Amino acid sequence: MYDVYKIRNDFPMLREPQTMQGHPLVFLDNASTTFKPDRVLDAMDVYNRKETANSHRGDYDLCNKADRAVAKARESVARFLNAGVNEIVFTAGATSALNLVAYGYCLKVLKPGDEILISLAEHASNVLPWFRIASLTGAKVKYIPLSEGNRITVEAVKTALTPHTKFVSVAYVGNVLGYIAPIKEIAALAHANGAVLCVDGAQSTPHLKTDVKDLDCDFLAFSGHKFCAPTGTGALYGKYDLLCAMDPFETGGGMNVKFYPDGTATYLLPPMKFEAGTLNVAGIIGLGEAVEYVSSIGLEEISAHEHMLKAYAVEKLLATGMVDIYNADSEGGIVTFNVHGVFSQDFATYLNAQGIACRSGQHCAKMLNDVLCVPATVRASFYLYTTKEEIDALVEAVKHGGNFLDAYF
Ligand SMILES: Cc1ncc(COP(=O)(O)O)c(C=O)c1O
Repeated sequence: MYDVYKIRNDFPMLREPQTMQGHPLVFLDNASTTFKPDRVLDAMDVYNRKETANSHRGDYDLCNKADRAVAKARESVARFLNAGVNEIVFTAGATSALNLVAYGYCLKVLKPGDEILISLAEHASNVLPWFRIASLTGAKVKYIPLSEGNRITVEAVKTALTPHTKFVSVAYVGNVLGYIAPIKEIAALAHANGAVLCVDGAQSTPHLKTDVKDLDCDFLAFSGHKFCAPTGTGALYGKYDLLCAMDPFETGGGMNVKFYPDGTATYLLPPMKFEAGTLNVAGIIGLGEAVEYVSSIGLEEISAHEHMLKAYAVEKLLATGMVDIYNADSEGGIVTFNVHGVFSQDFATYLNAQGIACRSGQHCAKMLNDVLCVPATVRASFYLYTTKEEIDALVEAVKHGGNFLDAYF
């Protein structure tokens, strides 16, 4: 196990004490975004200050250097996921990766009457693109029923698959409850049914060792900023034959071989075929460094640390006798709860006044709160640098909220 206090020195946001509302900052919103270590910031800074040039656009040394930096980052991401280098498409994040699958793959292959299978626990980015595609193709969106504990189970997937199911898309780890979906088994079921499986990996890649070959998923989308990379970065993994069969979503410079006045155009091979326009070179360099940073700590170690924090937080919060927790048994480092009688956004506003950053509301998974039978929840989410002391601060705030909030009982 690594030393969390030592690790915190890698992060300027943690090393140089930040305050919020006059209190030391306690950041428990890591499922939303994460802090960046020096290694990521420094690599981007070197590119921005000393090595700026476009990539794939020139024949001079500086440009070649940018090309090599982008290629190195692609190799890092491919190694991270156990994918082929040409199976990694850089995107602006999970949302744009999922939209690329929607408009590049689903729009091309889905027909009226085909079924797209998702769950009620999905983030907006893994729901709304499929609604759009359904309305454009005549396909239908259907739902995997959640189990009593709100998990996606193999049995539930079996019951939801029909001969019409052509496409399945689920999160590996849910962003509200943090349950791990049985992706390997779902992939086998989807394939036996003739369907393609897309995985929303936004909440899994930062926390779980991901091997796309072992999972045998067809696509996997993720965002870099959820594991120490800059915002505006991410990637789509796609099996190479599927990427070859897909249409580009965006067209422009850097993705074509040649085009003619009559409108005919030929495209580069994947992944370049999907990377129209100037790349986010600095961001991609940061993404590559973040992958190496997180890998150097170890995904198993990060999972174990978060598991320990989760168990600690659940125990301490339940001991107050003041909260309902909606995911006490989930694997991920997320605790989703409400304080008795207090609306979640009021509680988060009170936490802000104590210097504690927690997400509240419906967390972009706006179908799940009906399943939970609550209008909204508070979400505390941990990462590799979160400490028990930060959880203690949250627990103390829960205990003393009645001094500030009328609704406490
Ligand atoms: C499960 C899940 N999917 C997709 C996304 C979208 O990620 P981004 O906004 O970085 O594109 C998020 C972000 O919170 C998420 O948690």
